[in-house]
Amino acid sequence: MTHIQQASSLFMYCQLFYASELQHAQVTALQALIDQHQLPIVLNPELLTEKLTQKRRQQLCQLSIQPLLLLDNNNALSWLSDGLSVAPEWDKLQRRVVSAGRKSELLLQAAKITSDSAVIDATAGFGHDSLILASTGAQIIMLEQQPLMALLLLAEQQRMSQLANWQKLMTRLQIINTDALSYFEMVNNQSVSENNKTVDVVYLDPMFPEDSYQDRKTGKGAKVGKHMQALHQLARPPTVDEEQQLLQGALAVVGHNGSRRVIVKRPQFAPLLANQSPSESWHNEAVRFDGYFV
Ligand SMILES: C[S@@+](CC[C@H](N)C(=O)[O-])C[C@H]1O[C@@H](n2cnc3c(N)ncnc32)[C@H](O)[C@@H]1O
Repeated sequence: MTHIQQASSLFMYCQLFYASELQHAQVTALQALIDQHQLPIVLNPELLTEKLTQKRRQQLCQLSIQPLLLLDNNNALSWLSDGLSVAPEWDKLQRRVVSAGRKSELLLQAAKITSDSAVIDATAGFGHDSLILASTGAQIIMLEQQPLMALLLLAEQQRMSQLANWQKLMTRLQIINTDALSYFEMVNNQSVSENNKTVDVVYLDPMFPEDSYQDRKTGKGAKVGKHMQALHQLARPPTVDEEQQLLQGALAVVGHNGSRRVIVKRPQFAPLLANQSPSESWHNEAVRFDGYFV
């Protein structure tokens, strides 16, 4: 995909299709999010005059040199990636979030967080794991380095905040468009000067090579879903050096008391992050959570 790679210049130009005249307020609200969070994105809004069939979406994606965004009739913002629309779709996680607990969610078993925990999800992506973490009542700082992903997250948070049964959970999420390493550095400088470490858990789910989701010999493991396929166009897996920096940086920000830890998500058969052995691991047939205790 060439058009996404060009986005490494200072600003990312995005075409935003919206479905009806009535959505002007929503387009303005999106622009306000971009301004407020200083996202390096330039929106180019365009009212849709035709029905976006699958064929037309694919054509548009092939022709456009800008990422394409779509604001649908429900005001959900999605990214048209290769003709497929991908969006956080947090409402689809409602059942999981409502019933999330250490029995049903391996992530919560590994992370051992309580409602008082301070948690950083350093690789937020579509925010699905953040929602599971936030279901415990904990405050979650969500870091996302890609401005386009950060915008999708912020727009989803804004939309879901209007739904009564999601409002509380939405207030626990703080989305920041930043690289995790610089954020860790900032937190460390602060905690050194104030001499206290307040982060309990750092969660890392960095990208992994597209061929590492399944075991090469047996073919067992997870299939790559459309969300991950889309992400692979935007973000690349870290090098071993970058993995090392990420893990060291995360370990440096968590404090030393109690069950403070760094949790790393991997496909079940993927190699260890930065080749570092974890203190403990949890896995099912698709994923593995490696826990590094401080
Ligand atoms: C595999 S996805 C995470 C999926 C996420 N756990 C979820 O539930 O949707 C990885 C995400 O982390 C982001 N990312 C990778 N390295 C990062 C870094 N150093 N700082 C911030 N975000 C990063 C990527 O842009 C991508 O969106």
